[in-house]
Amino acid sequence: MKVLITGSGGREHAIAWKVAKSSKVDKIYCAPGNAGIGEIAECVDIGVMDFDRLTAFAKEENIDLTIIGPDDPLAAGAVDAFEAAGLRVFGPRKNAAILEGSKAFSKDLMKKYNIPTAAYETFDTPQAALKYLETADMPIVLKADGLALGKGVLICNTRSEAREGVKTLMMDKQFGSAGDRIVVEEFMTGREVSVLSFVDGKTIRVMTSAQDHKRAGDGDTGLNTGGMGTFSPSPFYTKEVDQFCREHIFQPAVDAMRAEGRAFKGILFFGLMLTEKGPKVLEFNARFGDPETQVVLPRMKNDIVDVFEACIDGTLDKVELDFEDNAAVCVVLASQGYPEHYEKGYPIAGLERFKDTEGYYVFHAGSKFDEAGRIVTNGGRVLGVTAVGKDLKEARKNAYEATGWVAFDNKYMRNDIGKAIDEV
Ligand code: AMP
Ligand code: GLY
Repeated sequence: MKVLITGSGGREHAIAWKVAKSSKVDKIYCAPGNAGIGEIAECVDIGVMDFDRLTAFAKEENIDLTIIGPDDPLAAGAVDAFEAAGLRVFGPRKNAAILEGSKAFSKDLMKKYNIPTAAYETFDTPQAALKYLETADMPIVLKADGLALGKGVLICNTRSEAREGVKTLMMDKQFGSAGDRIVVEEFMTGREVSVLSFVDGKTIRVMTSAQDHKRAGDGDTGLNTGGMGTFSPSPFYTKEVDQFCREHIFQPAVDAMRAEGRAFKGILFFGLMLTEKGPKVLEFNARFGDPETQVVLPRMKNDIVDVFEACIDGTLDKVELDFEDNAAVCVVLASQGYPEHYEKGYPIAGLERFKDTEGYYVFHAGSKFDEAGRIVTNGGRVLGVTAVGKDLKEARKNAYEATGWVAFDNKYMRNDIGKAIDEV
């Protein structure tokens, strides 16, 4: 089989690595890919939003299966474009990717189908939002309706912060049209857990749990980022929590989408908050999480291509997922200054030390080859260093040890990824 993966981050590197393990796969292409992905796939210089060129490429090369990595192309109808061209593709169609693409849609769906989530109101004008905020309880959460690179969520502690937030999202349009409409949501407290699943439209198969670290600095300080590290499984995601989520959140979400005529096929990612009143949904994503994928897929035993195909064919009920009884930790090596201003183009040394047979992985997030043929930094998040271990503590020790193998100028990482596991 020939497989095409679209995207260029650590998530896509982890997907490509896992696809390369499939006995069915002869050749992998990645558009556009990065230097690390280039070691296992042929990188093709086509952007993820260029559906015309991507589908033309897939036809010319007789690609048997395409996997769409990021959220933007899914929300814009990448899967519909591939299907219209008669190509086999994994991911939700546009009418289902809206579950991530519009927070107002996802909140309304949860309300209609009684899926536990924070109380909320939706506003189309800043005047109406500001009026509501005059009497609302603080803290409060403001969310841009549309996709905003994971940055359209503002937690406001005071009324003046909330007023400022409305200005940022709806008047200054910091996230463009994503802020034409906002969701104003009750502030929740608790542990956050990410749960990824495969869905074929009606059946859902849940993967193992994970936890992300979104803030740039140790102790969850600093700005929100795309994710600075992850661990899997989450010790807070107990059997009881899992049972509750399966019954009240996972299957109901899949059934709700089907009932709405928007059958969801692809990866459904549940961002959950484990509150005192039980698990509640923070957000849905319509794709693999980044960097959750970098700790989940190294623990997965199945041939992932079989699972992708079962989702497309609607035969997921015949598949059981199987995960190693171990743990994994991923520490992101970023460029100093991320997520704001940072420099790139620095040579990266030490990559050859990683041997996945030994349980050490380096997934590239922002790297490229320079003119001299050296691998250099090419983004805010540069690498995801993942290690497995028999338990979370061992995995964390291994992952941090391996971060020392890699050197590049302006290397920055958090030193407390997985610290919460010490509390268990
Ligand atoms: P989201 O993109 O919706 O997951 O939001 C990004 C982050 O904002 C989440 O991972 C939470 O840390 C935080 N967040 C979102 N919604 C809430 C909420 N209702 N209460 C507390 N924190 C929230
Ligand atoms: N790690 C969270 C996300 O992928 O959105």
